[in-house]
Amino acid sequence: MSLIFASRWENGYNAAMPRRQQHGRCVLIGLLWIAAGGTGSAAGTLDLLPHPARVVETGGRFLLDETFTVAAVGEPGDRARRAAVRFLDRFCGRTGLFVRRDGNPSDEGDPRASFIYKCERLGSLVPGEDESYRITVSPDRVLLVAPTDLGLLRGFETVLQLVEGGPEGYVLPCVQVEDEPRFTWRGLLLDSGRHFLPVEVVRRNLDGMAAVKMNVLHWHLTEDQGFRVESKLFPGLHQLGSDGLYYTQAEIRDLVAYAADRGIRVMPEFDLPGHATSWFAAYPELAGAPGPYRVSRTFGVQLTVFNPANPNVYAFLDAFLGEMTGLFPDAYVHLGGDESNGMHWDRNPEIQEFKREKGLASNEELQAYFTARLLEILKRHGRRMAGWEEILQPGLSGEVVIQSWRGTGALIAAARKGYTGLLSHGYYLDLCQPASDHYLNDPLPEGHGLTPEEAGRILGGEAAMWSGLVSPETIDSRIWPRTAAIAERLWSRRGVRDVDDMYRRLETVSCALEEHGLTHLKNRDMMLRRLAGAMDIGPLCVLAEAVEPLEGYRRQSLGRVKTTLDPLTRFVDAVPPESGLVRRFAASVGAFLSGNDPAASAFLRRTLELWRDNHESAKPHFLDAPALREVEPLSRGLAEAAEIGLQAMETMIAGRKAGPSRGSGLRAALEDLKKPFIGELELAAVPAIERLAAAAEKSAGKPARRTS
Ligand code: ACM
Repeated sequence: MSLIFASRWENGYNAAMPRRQQHGRCVLIGLLWIAAGGTGSAAGTLDLLPHPARVVETGGRFLLDETFTVAAVGEPGDRARRAAVRFLDRFCGRTGLFVRRDGNPSDEGDPRASFIYKCERLGSLVPGEDESYRITVSPDRVLLVAPTDLGLLRGFETVLQLVEGGPEGYVLPCVQVEDEPRFTWRGLLLDSGRHFLPVEVVRRNLDGMAAVKMNVLHWHLTEDQGFRVESKLFPGLHQLGSDGLYYTQAEIRDLVAYAADRGIRVMPEFDLPGHATSWFAAYPELAGAPGPYRVSRTFGVQLTVFNPANPNVYAFLDAFLGEMTGLFPDAYVHLGGDESNGMHWDRNPEIQEFKREKGLASNEELQAYFTARLLEILKRHGRRMAGWEEILQPGLSGEVVIQSWRGTGALIAAARKGYTGLLSHGYYLDLCQPASDHYLNDPLPEGHGLTPEEAGRILGGEAAMWSGLVSPETIDSRIWPRTAAIAERLWSRRGVRDVDDMYRRLETVSCALEEHGLTHLKNRDMMLRRLAGAMDIGPLCVLAEAVEPLEGYRRQSLGRVKTTLDPLTRFVDAVPPESGLVRRFAASVGAFLSGNDPAASAFLRRTLELWRDNHESAKPHFLDAPALREVEPLSRGLAEAAEIGLQAMETMIAGRKAGPSRGSGLRAALEDLKKPFIGELELAAVPAIERLAAAAEKSAGKPARRTS
């Protein structure tokens, strides 16, 4: 068994980083790392993500070959049947096996089928629906059973994740899996407002969500920068509010059906009363200030806001929401409510008079009034309301779902007051944080202090992909694979939080996600080739793997990307948020510093030498491609940092006295390399190299280390 796992891990590693196969030096580093055992490479552990509630390996394996057949028992419904077909397609795609397709998987009840699935009833796409399933793999049979077809969908994904290659060919390890989600609401927010996301982007991301058992697409459809839904009642909304980039109603219906087929609800968001400039391009009379308005090209919180004192606003929204509830069948509609700027309300005498009349003492109270009116409207259309945490004001009806984004406090406060809630604070994908940060961010952490009843009101959470700095070409690399770590946090038990093990499984899942057409891995090299205007981009790949886009809001605050029309095709856009190589490098620094670890030492040395020498190889690109020139100092900085790291290692290994001036000089040089934010990127390996330099300084005068 362990042989199988070792080879699978190796395959996954290389497939995740195809450039390593193109560049000999990189291949060597990959192999050395595998030899070193990697970080937490728990051979013998299944690559399931999200980790199931209970899984037992029972020994032996089921051999997968061209006789493999899938059949339903009973009446699992069309959704599960289509899922079975997709399962077979993906299985064949992965293994290259030519499995009999005629009549397979519709050989219903065929007792000779190798893989039998069955459920008791069709599931409803509502929060709280049963998504549990059980899998039994024995040497002669695979069985998937679930109370609902939704459970079958989740189970198909698990079976696919169990497929592994080894000396005997493809196999499923014999297991018993019993699984159900910890949270009922496991969402991804896609922001089609700031940048339009074509239908195929949404579709492939729905497939990615289904692969990791997420079940809510929170679709942010209106923003200052764009109104993205066709309205037949108020055509000015999409005609003047979208630059022609909107979803037709037919496309929306198709996408909602596509999502439902994958067990995913679609909750639309129409953000009100702020974030609403695009509504006013055609209908300025709805706004709190006279206008005229046009869709915003810039980012940041705008002053534009609906006028809650205008009765026509409510009539308009009533009709509009009536039209939208015909398009979106989900029980919930999200009406935003975040970051409403009261300045236009303060400047409008009609609104001031309205506040006096209604006895509303503040803009918060005015917004609460607005929210209550909208809630009435939604209820009339048979829908429930969700909103951002700002709508949690005294008097808010208890039926509203509160989504926290500024901290976990609002979520906890909401649950104490009787509201259901969702966590998004800590799951903002646009902030380019490492997957581990999101992974350890628990909607109900240990010691949350809520009663069981209050805790039960926390429905789950949502990853949020705000799209100010992404294009259809780059968005997948911001979403995946990090969202899979969030998916596990929301599906698996609280105690499943081994970060190294998560990263190990994430690499395998990341490769598998490509089968849906997701571009999170492949677009980097495509974008680098375009920037370089050349086929040989080896040195650029090395640089790209040593840097990361600035984390948090630092990139936004540099203001280099000024408008929605920015092409977003620079080096920083090509580079994914988190470098696996740098993470391994940092782990090896830990291993090297904590003792005699020759493999870690060799890996560090090879990597540092690669980084040190890379600048010379990259230089021709900076001459030939003006678009790459901005990262030349970064490339030089990487070489300098690597040289410092090599000196530090040499000092420790040789036991040479670094001497206070030499050691602190190294560290000061590193400090400089962290500062300039060249190209809106940072040299991600510098903190780990700093640890080496600091250790070298401390080790002054100590005996030589035996590693080399
Ligand atoms: C938000 O990020 N303004 C919800």
